[in-house]
Amino acid sequence: SGRDNLDTNMVTLTRYITERGRQVKEATGELTQLLNAICTAIKAIATKVRRAGIINLYGIAGTTNTTGDEQKKLDVLSNELFINMVKHSFTTCLMVSEENERSIEVDLDKQGKYIVTFDPLDGSSNIDCLVSIGTIFGIYKKQHDGAPSENDALQNGRNMVAAGYALYGSATVIVLATSSSVDMFMLDPNVGEFILTERNMRIKKKGKIFSINEGYAKFWDPAMKEYIERKKFPQDGSSPYNARYIGSMVADVHRTLVYGGIFAYPAHSKSPNGKIRLLYEAAPMAFILNQAGGKATTGTSDILDVVPSKIHQRVPVVLGSPDDVDEYLNIVRKHQ
Ligand code: AHG
Ligand code: MN
Ligand code: MN
Ligand code: MN
Repeated sequence: SGRDNLDTNMVTLTRYITERGRQVKEATGELTQLLNAICTAIKAIATKVRRAGIINLYGIAGTTNTTGDEQKKLDVLSNELFINMVKHSFTTCLMVSEENERSIEVDLDKQGKYIVTFDPLDGSSNIDCLVSIGTIFGIYKKQHDGAPSENDALQNGRNMVAAGYALYGSATVIVLATSSSVDMFMLDPNVGEFILTERNMRIKKKGKIFSINEGYAKFWDPAMKEYIERKKFPQDGSSPYNARYIGSMVADVHRTLVYGGIFAYPAHSKSPNGKIRLLYEAAPMAFILNQAGGKATTGTSDILDVVPSKIHQRVPVVLGSPDDVDEYLNIVRKHQ
């Protein structure tokens, strides 16, 4: 019957994770509780984002965060919403946010076993011009029984239990990756629930779109220069790739997942590790892409294998369709 608006048995995100949780024998329901709290935070952020122009939430907060970003009012508001919803879900002991210099320890009486890394509002340079923005999160488990500390967040991405993003675009969508699949949910504003619209998303083996900020071309290393040149002037007689760059990682990654192709935020001579932060941007996106049959590399290592030494460390990012990422890696190897 497809998803006509008379669907009386729609699968909500809550129902979906509850059903999945019950299949896992030792499930305590905590992950379901945590994902529901994240879902509430995302719904609240979505309404603020869509009304920002009306309730005077554009513009800057007048502060900068620890990675030097000028914080927007919506960055700060989204951050507080996310922290409060997760803190009061009794599932989490530690959080790492783009907008907080230090990791956030949850009060002892509210602690659970999960560690959540998140970017409460991604693409905030696009807020005031109404271009799509998003939220990114990764979920890990504390690996010992003692009190949590910042070091517990320094795990590589392969330890992730789940990861996901919300995209505040023409629809509000959540893409959630767990150990077994990547699934997509769209917010039905009339019901206030996220409805399952695609199960087990798989990325195309090869795409026809490249996504990179060419404003930095002057500073790229020779391998990236050669790769992009090949996309524009193919030597095998094939047609050139399309160029698409939105400047919100969530929007660029979602288009890459849905249409195929490659997204890159490389290191360049002005920023030796690029701009994208590992814990709450690159690693969650790498987890999602890997689960959907894609690839995500720093150029020298799979992003999921990078063991962080600092919670805000940056990594170069090249991710997308496996054949496209492999073509880039072959060029990197040629230049070594
Ligand atoms: P954030 O708004 O959370 O700080 O992230 C912005 C990031 C990412 O969303 C995007 O891919 C990148 O910044 C764009 O950077 P440039 O404007 O340098 O291309
Ligand atoms: Mn920022
Ligand atoms: Mn971001
Ligand atoms: Mn952000």
